[in-house]
Amino acid sequence: MGGTEQPDVRLRGVVKRFGAFEAVAGIDLDVAPGQFVTLLGPSGCGKTTTLRIIGGFEQPDAGEVFVAGVPVDSETTKRHTRMVFQSYALFPHMTVRQNVAFGLRMDKVPKGEIGARVEAMLANLGLSDQAEKYPRQLSGGQQQRVALARALVTQPRVLLLDEPLGALDLKMRKRMQGELKALQRNVGITFIYVTHDQEEAMNLSDVIVVMEKGRIAQVGTPEDVYRRPANAYVADFVGETNFLAGNLAVRPENVLIGDVIPSGAARGKGMVRAKSFLGASTRLEIETEGTTLVATLPGAVSIATGDPIAFGWRDEDALHLPTKDSK
Ligand SMILES: Nc1ncnc2c1ncn2[C@@H]1O[C@H](COP(=O)(O)OP(=O)(O)O)[C@@H](O)[C@H]1O
Ligand SMILES: [Mg+2]
Repeated sequence: MGGTEQPDVRLRGVVKRFGAFEAVAGIDLDVAPGQFVTLLGPSGCGKTTTLRIIGGFEQPDAGEVFVAGVPVDSETTKRHTRMVFQSYALFPHMTVRQNVAFGLRMDKVPKGEIGARVEAMLANLGLSDQAEKYPRQLSGGQQQRVALARALVTQPRVLLLDEPLGALDLKMRKRMQGELKALQRNVGITFIYVTHDQEEAMNLSDVIVVMEKGRIAQVGTPEDVYRRPANAYVADFVGETNFLAGNLAVRPENVLIGDVIPSGAARGKGMVRAKSFLGASTRLEIETEGTTLVATLPGAVSIATGDPIAFGWRDEDALHLPTKDSK
């Protein structure tokens, strides 16, 4: 990450207000070339606004934005970024091939070159067989592939994607996640991706930017934000967390039950209040000292609801959080 290499995208002190409301409240961010970076946070935290500012669709009230070292409001920068939306935004009266060729026509690329680039991009996205169809004749997943092809064929430096899989059903979304990740590696273009889905962010990203109310709560790899959350907000938003007294927290999968609790580990006693078998794991809700502790155990367990239970966790698995009330 970074080094002396010039970032593809740089934000410095970026602020955006709508009336008196600060949708983006001072963001600094560097995105290194070729990275898959995800803006992650709940609805309304300023992800789309930040993306639109990078794309030059929205003017910040304060701060600076550079793409490839050039201020974002210049015409050159607009050619460096392309955006993909949840709604696909394809031209309904154009075929798949015409949709994909459109940006190249606008850029006045020579005709012979357009054909070759469009066919290569269609093949890359598995769309060669669909080239003569119209958008309405395609599934949601296929339409989103066309939108990706249409954006990537113009060879932007940075692709901006705003919840592009949000309209797809769960199974197709998972499949498209895999395809998107492979595609990004393959084309080597910087992706800045927006989602409120933490699992999707974990699955796709080199770097996750966790956002909270127009600010950045943490920037890190998926492992960083999961294993070393900067604060209680991040621990709560990324994955499930049991919050304990004394700024301590523990993930459900790190809660140990019964004999496997090592000596010297933190431990307690409680009662199983609820048990759900989830196939690959079992989830227990343990009532202890007026609170509920969630434990996720691999496979099936013989413990029943109402049973007394001993629980614990290794010291190295506890999360030490600076504050609990930062959200
Ligand atoms: N054009 C606008 N006018 C007024 N408020 C807006 C506008 N765009 C966004 N907002 C507000 O700014 C906040 C952040 O919006 P947005 O960036 O779309 O969040 P996210 O994409 O994280 O859900 C929200 O409270 C939203 O209602
Ligand atoms: Mg949004």
